[in-house]
Formats: sequence, structure tokens, C-alpha cells
Amino acid sequence: MNKILQEDFDLAPCMVAGYESFMDGLLNIVHSGPICESVGERIKSYVLDFVQNHPLDSFDCFSDETYTRNYIGRDKSGWEAIVMSWKKGNRTAIHAHPQFAGYTFADGEFLVEVFEPFKEGICLVQEMTISDIHGVYAIGKAGKYNNHIHRITCLSDTAHSLHVYSDDALKGEKLDEQMIY
Ligand SMILES: [Fe+2]
Repeated sequence: MNKILQEDFDLAPCMVAGYESFMDGLLNIVHSGPICESVGERIKSYVLDFVQNHPLDSFDCFSDETYTRNYIGRDKSGWEAIVMSWKKGNRTAIHAHPQFAGYTFADGEFLVEVFEPFKEGICLVQEMTISDIHGVYAIGKAGKYNNHIHRITCLSDTAHSLHVYSDDALKGEKLDEQMIY
């Protein structure tokens, strides 16, 4: 298991050695103005460009039980960047996000299922199979952790993705499979 699991991780600002310039560039963008589509597009392009030029195999810390979360950095306002390492069959819970959630698939193959609130539960509105470098972002309501509901499953032997959030992603609400209509 990866040693930097959430329960061990200090939520204080941090920056992982070797990723200072990536984080500096990212934080410049995220603090360039209020969270909006143009900032989202800039974050997406920035991370896509990074993963195209920096393979993430130094994060080869896989687990049969779950994807592993490897913090790259976080600033005092709560923005954070995390590399996730995946093995085939690793799957997230169905979960929601803070105001900004951006995720970039760097290598491997993934299934992404996107849900929306429906009646008392949720319904599946989009299903994407991703097998190339691909960036997605979603902007929701500030101060809420019920934005952009999805579930990600790894379909390839191994895979990596790089995620950027405007706040601690683990505050995102988790939803039960039984809530799917
Ligand atoms: Fe997510």
C-alpha cells in the first residue's frame, strides 16, 4: 500500500520534491481569477501538457484493493494536485466533488461514469471509455461537496491519472449504488 494514504496525510500545505515548478505554474493559473470556464480550460491544458511530457511511472505504487492517492502538492487555500495509480479493477465509490474537479488520464484505460441527481437519487448520464491522454474538468457550486458525481474504473493492467481540486477531494460526498435509478 502507498504510504501517503489520506489517513496519514497532513492536510497542511505541502509540495513534493521534484514537482515545485509544476505546482507553481498550476497555482498561478488557479489564482489568476475566480473559478470559471476559462480558468478550467487553462488548468486542463496545463496538466495535459505536463503529462504528455512527464510519464508518471515514478508513482508505480499499486494495490489490488484500491487505487492509490499520491499528493503532489496543496496550497493554503486548499487547492491540491494528486497522482492516482491504478490497477485493473480498481474502482472509486460513486462520489461528488468540491467546486472545481479536474482530472487528466495520463496512461492506461478507464471507464468514467457520470451521474446527475434524479428524483431522490441519481441517474447515469454519460459513460466514457478513455484509452488515450484525456482531460476532463467540472465546475460546480462554491462551498458545496455534491458537485459533479462520477465513478472511475481502471480497465487496463495499470494506469495513472493526475487530479486537481479546489479543496480536499475527500470532502466530496459519497453516494450509494442503490441510489441509481
Ligand atoms: Fe472524482
